[in-house]
Amino acid sequence: MVKLTISASDGRPFEIDAAPGTTLMENAVRNSVPGIEAECGGACACATCHVYVDEEWKGRVGPPNDIEKDMLDFAYDVRENSRLSCQIKLSEAIDGLKVEVPERQS
Ligand code: FES
Repeated sequence: MVKLTISASDGRPFEIDAAPGTTLMENAVRNSVPGIEAECGGACACATCHVYVDEEWKGRVGPPNDIEKDMLDFAYDVRENSRLSCQIKLSEAIDGLKVEVPERQS
């Protein structure tokens, strides 16, 4: 399993054991994390699954690809550690990942 800590938009921390191969967004939705709307269901077409990757984890998670970057233009308060959580696939390499949900999605 891959351990995740997601700080929700209301400040509550969610500690989740996730299956490798699933996405961060899928686990946030399954655990009813406030602030992750994921309107397009993971198709990289809505930008309502926006998260900030903890600085410590940014390098290991990596940057968004060009399609994700274009979609991030529609997200609220984008920062250099912004990612769309439906595009982060979980693996043992990012076991312990920490992310934060913005105060709102758009
Ligand atoms: Fe729509 Fe991630 S769920 S872009």
